[in-house]
Amino acid sequence: MGLWIILGAQWGDEGKGRIVDMLAEDADVVARFSGGDNAGHTIRLGEDVYKLHLVPSGIIYPGTTCVMGNGMVINPAVLKQEIEELQAAGVHVSPERLKISHVAHMITPAHRALDGAQERLRGDKKIGTTGRGISPAYGEKIKRTGLRFIDMLDKDAFKQKLTRNLENANRELTQLYNAEALDIPAVVSEYLGYADYFAPFIVDASGIIMDALAADRKVIAEGAQGALLDIDHGSYPYVTSSSCQAANAVLGLGIGLPDEVNIIGAVKAFQTRVGEGFFPTELFDKNAAFLRGDGTKQWDEFGTTTGRARRIGWLDGVLLKRVVQTNNINALVLTKLDVLSGLPEIKVCTSYDALEDERFPWISAEPSQPHYETLPGWQEDLMTLRRWEDLPQAAQDYVIFIEEMCGVPVRWISVGPERNQFIVR
Ligand code: GDP
Ligand code: IMO
Ligand code: MG
Repeated sequence: MGLWIILGAQWGDEGKGRIVDMLAEDADVVARFSGGDNAGHTIRLGEDVYKLHLVPSGIIYPGTTCVMGNGMVINPAVLKQEIEELQAAGVHVSPERLKISHVAHMITPAHRALDGAQERLRGDKKIGTTGRGISPAYGEKIKRTGLRFIDMLDKDAFKQKLTRNLENANRELTQLYNAEALDIPAVVSEYLGYADYFAPFIVDASGIIMDALAADRKVIAEGAQGALLDIDHGSYPYVTSSSCQAANAVLGLGIGLPDEVNIIGAVKAFQTRVGEGFFPTELFDKNAAFLRGDGTKQWDEFGTTTGRARRIGWLDGVLLKRVVQTNNINALVLTKLDVLSGLPEIKVCTSYDALEDERFPWISAEPSQPHYETLPGWQEDLMTLRRWEDLPQAAQDYVIFIEEMCGVPVRWISVGPERNQFIVR
């Protein structure tokens, strides 16, 4: 069955959580390899809506083991709350099912405070982060001053490390950012409580995943964010602080390069983005309001984590093609095709005006004016359809256009947020 990497192929919120849930029915392990609670992955099962920020999306199936890999930065307060909410909703979450890599890094209130202070200092150059402390936590990891989950297993040493870490953060907060200092004894006492709570969850996560792969079990690596938010290959500096590329699945889970791997790109049928940064195909007209679901909230284009309205645009084929190539994506899942129903015509960006610097025909140089292909729309509701041949011709043509543009098959088409609302080709 092997390794399946599910990757966001745009600026996040492509429907990865829902796709992981769809593919997890026969999976043994579902593992997150990057990011933290900046992610928000929504799974809908009728009246039950699960909004997962940290716990892998395989948790809803009782038989899967869920792993939080070394590539993550994990806020224990958020994780504990998420676990308790899942338990209250009747989902079995325990150390038997949920495993945290001993070398995953930890987010503290200091990281959140620093994230906020740094954004304030940027003023109108702000990145529009989720405020979850992501950049300060990854920054400390790189500076080799971070706290890891293994540190929780020796409480005395943890107390000392955490205290020292918070003292440094307080100096930075007060002297550099003119912000309020944290109450160190209160944070330390809270985190010593998490050390007791999480101790049984902390494992050698690489070992679990390698064993599952060696036994030919199905392992899903669940991406967070999207390739255009990648720290190296995204729209820097308007990116997140981790790698969101397929290659990081093996680094962020601590396994070797596999002989065979399915790399699945999740693509929304149009483009969205939360936060700042360039967005060549952005729309501000009635099509944007329609696609976002303004007034109805029917489509839910409001951030799962921060509730911010998502920015909307036509599908950017130039960026998508590059993401497919640089991630070696084998197949695409197209989500939200149902949302396009009712538009008279649909546009896809297929090129930009000459780039300012043609040596780098990519987003490290700001792309200029986009050029579009216009395709006919369709009026039919797609949400009840389950077979390719039942899709209106114009919807089929849109899917085929994307396939031909990217050179990879669209193997699944999602026509609604529910588990069964998809078409397999
Ligand atoms: P993720 O971060 O990639 O997991 O995506 P989010 O959960 O943040 O955002 C995707 C939103 O679209 C969620 O509200 C999903 O319930 C919803 N969704 C996913 N697929 C579809 C689809 O095919 N059609 C519709 N209408 N909604 C979808
Ligand atoms: P999922 O997994 C959409 C964006 C933020 C901001 C930038 C940096 O649900 O697809 P950060 O807090 O990471 O430092 O913010 O990245 N961002 C996301 N946008 N979906 C996400 O996750 C995101 N995670 C971060 O809005 O622009
Ligand atoms: Mg999301």
